[in-house]
Amino acid sequence: MTTSAQSDSAAAGVFPPSAETVAQAHVNAEKYAEMYEASVRDSTGFWREQAKRIDWIKPFTEVRDVDFTLGHVKINWFADGTLNVSANCVDRHIATRGDQTAIIWEPDDPKDPALHISYRELGEHVGRMANVLKSLGIRKGERVVIYLPMIPEAAYAMLACARIGAIHSIVFAGFSPDALGARVNGCDAKLVITSDGAPRGGKVTKLKDNVNQALLHDTSDVKCLIVRRTGQQIAFRSDLDYWYHEEAAKVSSDCPPEEMSAEDPLFILYTSGSTGQPKGVVHTTGGYLVYAALTHEVTFDYHDGDVYWCTADVGWVTGHSYIVYGPLANGATTLMFEGVPTWPDASRFWQVCEKHKVNQFYTAPTAIRALMGQGTEWVEKCDLSALKLLGTVGEPINPEAWNWYNTVVGKGRCPIVDTWWQTETGGHMMTPLPGAHATKPGSAQKPFFGVQPVVLDPTSGTEIEGNGVEGVLAIKDSWPGQMRTVWGDHERFEKTYFSDYKGYYFSGDGCRRDKDGDYWITGRVDDVINVSGHRMGTAEVESALVAHAKVAEAAVVGYPHDIKGQGIYCYVTLMNGEEPSEELRKELRAWVRHEIGPIASPDVIQWAPGLPKTRSGKIMRRILRKIAENDFGSLGDTSTLADPAVVDDLIANRAPK
Ligand code: WTA
Repeated sequence: MTTSAQSDSAAAGVFPPSAETVAQAHVNAEKYAEMYEASVRDSTGFWREQAKRIDWIKPFTEVRDVDFTLGHVKINWFADGTLNVSANCVDRHIATRGDQTAIIWEPDDPKDPALHISYRELGEHVGRMANVLKSLGIRKGERVVIYLPMIPEAAYAMLACARIGAIHSIVFAGFSPDALGARVNGCDAKLVITSDGAPRGGKVTKLKDNVNQALLHDTSDVKCLIVRRTGQQIAFRSDLDYWYHEEAAKVSSDCPPEEMSAEDPLFILYTSGSTGQPKGVVHTTGGYLVYAALTHEVTFDYHDGDVYWCTADVGWVTGHSYIVYGPLANGATTLMFEGVPTWPDASRFWQVCEKHKVNQFYTAPTAIRALMGQGTEWVEKCDLSALKLLGTVGEPINPEAWNWYNTVVGKGRCPIVDTWWQTETGGHMMTPLPGAHATKPGSAQKPFFGVQPVVLDPTSGTEIEGNGVEGVLAIKDSWPGQMRTVWGDHERFEKTYFSDYKGYYFSGDGCRRDKDGDYWITGRVDDVINVSGHRMGTAEVESALVAHAKVAEAAVVGYPHDIKGQGIYCYVTLMNGEEPSEELRKELRAWVRHEIGPIASPDVIQWAPGLPKTRSGKIMRRILRKIAENDFGSLGDTSTLADPAVVDDLIANRAPK
């Protein structure tokens, strides 16, 4: 775990909120202290009150029923209440703000017009899509995979599933056919919603072709609903494929919302772990919505009339909670962007901010670092005076990027919320609140209401008390947004999160609590890496590599990368008789992109005649990580290796980055 952040923070200082920020904030310092204390002292009372922010069909009587004991893990919130998420995100706003824009859609190409979709229009779209799903035979509890670009139909599809009680599982449109197929099968989906093509950064991905390839190996009868986005040619399977615009013309937009139990699943989202295949994280209906809505309002200090923009993709949890569910539950105006930060040029983000007068802007450190490298002129030529707040998520932000974000983008007047959370947590877990805390570059700082972080000794698992300490990060008690299980594998859920440190939810992250009691996330302590804010298991990249006929063995680690945060470093042992070459390097890169998707493309491939293994055959990743980091001085004890000489060879032949 790094200690460099510590010295950086001391140099970078502390940034108190302006008087104006404090004055307008929903939550100031006193209120945070008071509410946090109440949320921990009386979790039941606190969340009973907070749950009033959403509409219930049948009110709940029991707030929580939670057990973190291994073998008995159960997490239930508001379990006997009933509600519908789409009614909360759409219908209830129509009476009060029907003409207000719910979604601003900004297309990939700035020359194309943006769309402003009001809450009333959103209601019509969602109802129509819900009726189309029904007409295709989708029933409550069945799974629907959504594989779409960042177009409004992605939000309609999510809300339409929620409306009829179907469980959606979004697969990021950058994932390959194989990755898509594994997820469709993993949750036994009955339908895939996709588009003909996905424009992004001026290029088009053939999404429907990917779906065809993904479903080719599947013997079942998965249907496909296709949204027309680009108008390009597609291979249409007449027995199983449906054009959305044709089906939509056949149904009405009136679809009554299904009454759902608070603990009915709302969605499954596959995410990477340290072992095996990605797991289907399950979030349910009531607690998730309460948590997403409350965190959205408080962390971003969202006020009626604000224009809020989260640049994530709906394929990740950030898009679920903070483009769609949180903002829409709050009746907000949320911006959906189809494009990328650097096309047609590096001012695209800032032009969108100017054009739509964005008030809150939420992005990932990797985007900030990439844009920082392009110079300040791209930002300076845009009018960013509407901005009130900036946010970051997905990985630790280095102080240089934080300072650039603060001064160049925020002109020193916008508080930065560095939000630490996970797919598993459903919403923000730690973050400074804009009107309550003086921020520190790189620190996620304070727990959100109801969140009880603890720093554990990684070996003994005991809580480390006091400040100025470091260890692994766990959470002591449940919060309503917590994942409930792994789809189809509750045992894996318990084993992954509750077995290493008994009685706690283990995050997989390391952390430090500084002298003021503020938290600093130091990165993953398991074999999960964070590449450009995308979470990936090194095991997934390894299994993709060894699936190649010429590869005998592979070990993959992360290494520090200036833009991406972490890069993918692969040690590859070839089959006997195969010769390393530049062509083969290229071939393996292309192979991994094909197996998983472009986000998993290896940055470095080093040929490894042997891998450092213990006598029992376990690969010593610690050593491989050090070599990838160019840190040969502290390799630690290599005497337990079966063949210590392989380490010297790996150092001597370290691949150039
Ligand atoms: C990392 C994304 C430092 C962390 C919402 C976590 C962060 C993983 C931060 C979850 C942050 C996320 N500072 N690290 N503000 N936010 N992380 O599931 O390692 O895609 O465990 O969820 O991202 O990634 P996931």
